[in-house]
Amino acid sequence: MLILGIESSCDETGVALYDTVRGLLAHTVHTQVAMHEAYGGVVPELASRDHIRRLIPLLEKVLQAAACTREDLDAIAYTAGPGLAGALLVGASFAEGLALALNIPALPVHHLEGHLLSPLLSSDPAKFPFIALLVSGGHTQIMCVTQVGTYELMGESLDDAAGEAFDKTAQLLGLGYPGGPALAKLAELGKPGRFRLPRPMINSGDFSFSFSGLKTAVLTAVRQRPLTDQDKADLAAEFQEAATEVLATKALAACRQRRLSTLVVAGGVGANKRLRERLNVAAAQNSVRVCYPEMELCTDNGAMIAFAGAQHLLAGAVSNVNRAGSFAVKPRWPLATR
Ligand code: KG4
Ligand code: ZN
Repeated sequence: MLILGIESSCDETGVALYDTVRGLLAHTVHTQVAMHEAYGGVVPELASRDHIRRLIPLLEKVLQAAACTREDLDAIAYTAGPGLAGALLVGASFAEGLALALNIPALPVHHLEGHLLSPLLSSDPAKFPFIALLVSGGHTQIMCVTQVGTYELMGESLDDAAGEAFDKTAQLLGLGYPGGPALAKLAELGKPGRFRLPRPMINSGDFSFSFSGLKTAVLTAVRQRPLTDQDKADLAAEFQEAATEVLATKALAACRQRRLSTLVVAGGVGANKRLRERLNVAAAQNSVRVCYPEMELCTDNGAMIAFAGAQHLLAGAVSNVNRAGSFAVKPRWPLATR
């Protein structure tokens, strides 16, 4: 079966073709970073309009790359939430309209489920059951995953998401948008430990996180005195140490608690090199295998949506698909199934 995947929940338009036998045939992403940069963050209305502009050319591009036509499609999976309402609606109407025209099913997919299953797209995929550390711009969650569709939320951030904390801290240090990769780059020039930041909730004994205090601690340091470039790099390095230490510690504690030996890491912050280093070391000490998505599939993309849709199709979800042309998006949508 050939599945088209459409992602448009935020500031990336992702389109991909996944074949249930041959695997990922083509995927392409248009990022709106340059467009939003001038505003220091995502402008929802601009994001929606840009998705409209990009979807058809991107669809043509993947069809050409995979030497397929629209008529070859068996289903269309699209991100139905969570995300920006207008941006989601663009992808949803495009996918539902095209599916109706082609008389094939349209499958609404949860964005986080896409991230969570994305490491399964790699050449040596993770096997169920596993613990998932989901670290994106909007979510920080630890899940226990026993099979596709069964996601137990073990804990999450009580305030800012990890990516949000990276972005806000980057802003405090005068770095541009998106802040995460910029902060990680600056941290490479810095020395952690010169400024001492807290490791929030590291000893809380549960799987909750809190990142807003960490950001406030950076703000306090920024306000104390004018910072030199070296100060900024040292603060960035310490922030990265603090955030990644908490994430890695809790992810491994979840593996130990459930006696699971596979850890899946997904979401944009999963691209962070220091987080990966820490996880790899801690996992080796605990005889845990860590599985990451391919680097290009860490941030938002259509491949993970096509793949998640395909898993539901294979599990027989197609009978639940609404073919009548009515649909809804869910800007807020919890993933946990129990
Ligand atoms: O998963 P994603 O692409 O979008 C959401 O669904 O939110 O994640 C985006 C987040 C942003 O906050 C971005 O700053 C962060 O992931 N991010 C990183 C890195 N690359 C992206 N944070 C830290 N280090 C990175 N290398
Ligand atoms: Zn995402």
